[in-house]
Formats: sequence, structure tokens, C-alpha cells
Amino acid sequence: MKALVLSGGAGTRLRPLTHTSAKQLVPVANKPVLFYGLEAIADAGIKQVGIIVGSTADEIMEAVGDGSAFGIEVTYIPQEAPLGLAHAVLIAQDFLGDDDFVMYLGDNFIVGGITDLVDGFRADRPDAQILLTKVSDPKAFGVAELGPDGRVTGLEEKPEHPKSDLALVGVYLFTPAVHEAVRSIEPSRRGELEITHALQWLIDNGRDVRSTTISGYWKDTGNVTDMLEVNRSVLETSEQRIDGSVDESSEIIGRVTIEEGACVVGSRIVGPAVIGAGTVVTSSYVGPFTSISRNCVISDSEIEFSIVLDDSSLNGVRRVEASIIGRNVVVTPAPRMPAAHRFVLGDHSKVQISS
Ligand code: DAU
Repeated sequence: MKALVLSGGAGTRLRPLTHTSAKQLVPVANKPVLFYGLEAIADAGIKQVGIIVGSTADEIMEAVGDGSAFGIEVTYIPQEAPLGLAHAVLIAQDFLGDDDFVMYLGDNFIVGGITDLVDGFRADRPDAQILLTKVSDPKAFGVAELGPDGRVTGLEEKPEHPKSDLALVGVYLFTPAVHEAVRSIEPSRRGELEITHALQWLIDNGRDVRSTTISGYWKDTGNVTDMLEVNRSVLETSEQRIDGSVDESSEIIGRVTIEEGACVVGSRIVGPAVIGAGTVVTSSYVGPFTSISRNCVISDSEIEFSIVLDDSSLNGVRRVEASIIGRNVVVTPAPRMPAAHRFVLGDHSKVQISS
């Protein structure tokens, strides 16, 4: 069994965070969302992994390398443009050969991994197996319709009028039967070769397409609340680990990770929280459910239930909460007079002020 991981495409939903970087590298508890997928694939005993890359190929290749850090062997498969999930299968045919495979969308996060699912598929070998989950906004997803026996009877991509609230999760298991399907379909109205069409082709041709419904799922729908929530739930499972330096006047409470090279001085950190490598926290409070990435500076500030990406600084800011702060961001207090807010905000930024 092989894996095909889709890490091409261009990020738009988590704008502005993904204007400048791959959406599969958005961190959850300081680790790119893609890494959780690769770990889940390795845990399921799959070694050969093809990764589809597009315009952000360099960034993905730099982050993942040859895969040895995950215990997998990676083959990169360039896609000239995001022409659809079924197009990705089409161009991966040489890599996939006659093997069964799991297709994993690199921006999806599945709580609890995929080992049971892969084991079940190996035992039963239906032609295809999809994962579904109940969502409140099915229009943003592929949506499945199930017959009374629970079999999949129909699939629609981002329908105007969804026939159910069961969204397709970005993990699909296939036998080589899918190759004929992806060769037989035409591009959709949005110009993409849709995997939903390939699945529908399999159903219409009498093939066995099964579904499993899961809970514990997240994807980058651009919903900041959801992103903070998935960060919270992953931090919730962490243990205390202090590899960086903490001075005597600091207080570390509960499940706090201080990565190697991070430095905490005269501060109070209440877990679960993670402070990334190279970050310096001075005279500050970092509260529960906060992930501070690498090389940040937090001084004379208070922050909780938030995510701060690499190379950003908070200096003299009280108090930040329920926030996502991108890379290379600088937050400081405005001068006392005149009492005014001063912004330099990128496109699609969102700001809430408390005065
Ligand atoms: O995440 C679940 C949803 O993923 C499903 O419910 C939908 O049925 C499915 O079409 C897909 O919808 P999205 O619109 O969310 O797909 P997105 O464009 O975000 O692409 C998903 C991942 O695949 C992302 O990591 C980018 C990558 N990708 C996408 C396309 C279209 C590629 O590598 N190549 C592509 O051509």
C-alpha cells in the first residue's frame, strides 16, 4: 500500500496567513498540519509516499525533505496547476502503479490517525472507501448522500443545495480501480478533474464505494475559531517538556513545552502551551492554549488562547487573547498622545480593538 499526499494548490482560505506560504504548513501546536498527516501515514505502516506539489513546492520540500525524519520515503510529484484532486491521481499513475493507496489531503487534520481505517481497508478491499463527517456548512465541502443500507449513492462537490450534512473528509482509500475512473471523467464547471466525479463514476459502474463516518476532524476552512480550537485540543494532549532555559524568577505551571533554544526570563507560563525554539519571553504572562512559534520576542506582554507564528514580537501589549498572529508581525502599544490606534495591516487582515 502507498500514500498520495496532496500539497499543491494555493492557499486562500486562511488569508492572510497563507498569502505567503503553503497552507499545509500552517502550524497546529507549533507543528505543520501536513506533518500530522505524514505521521499518521507512517503509523499506519505505509512507507512509500508520493507528495503532489505545486507553486509552493520549494517550501514543502524544505520542510519534509526525503521523509526519513518520518520513517517514510518521499517521491515528489510536481503538478503544473491545481487542476483537481482526480488530476493529482492521474499524474501520479507511474508512482502508484498497481498498488492500493490512501489519498490524503495535506491540509486536513484527523484526530486519532488513520491506522484502523487502513487496516480495515486492507482486510475488505472495497473499490473505494471514503470518510465522512457531519459539518454545519456542507456547502464548503464535497457532500455525500447515503442509501438506507449506508452505502454511498451520490456525491456532489460544494453543492448549492446540499442533500445531507455529511462532508467528505480529505482521506480516501482506493484500489487501482480508480485509475479508469479518473481517465474517464471530464473537467467540471470550475475546470477541475473532481475526485467526487471519479467516485460517482465508480458508483455508476457498479463498483463498491463504502463510507465511514468520523468525528474529530479539522480543515482550513478559514475559520479562526476552529483553528484555535484544533490548536487547543492538540496542546491538551501534550506533556511538560523543558528543553530551553528558564530562569529562577520564572514560573512554569502544568503541561508547558519549552523548545530547545527558547529562553524564559521573569515570566509566568501556564500550560498547556508551547514556546518555540529561539523564542525569548521576558517579563510576560503566557496563558493556557497558546502556541508561540520560533524566534519570537514576547516582552512585557500578556497573551493566552492564541497562536503566534515565526519571527513575530509583542512588546508591552496587554492582553492578547483568541488571536492568530502571522509571521514577522510587530505589535507594540501606540504612543500615549494622541490616543489613537496605528495600523499597518496586510490584505484580508481582521482586527478587533478593545477601546
Ligand atoms: O478537505 C475536504 C474537502 O477537500 C472535500 O470535502 C472536498 O470534496 C474536496 O474537493 C476538497 O475540497 P477543497 O476545496 O477544500 O480542496 P482544496 O482546493 O483545499 O485542496 C485540498 C488539498 O489538496 C490541499 O492541500 C491542496 C491540494 N490540492 C488541491 C487541488 C485542487 C492539490 O495538491 N492539487 C489540486 O489540484
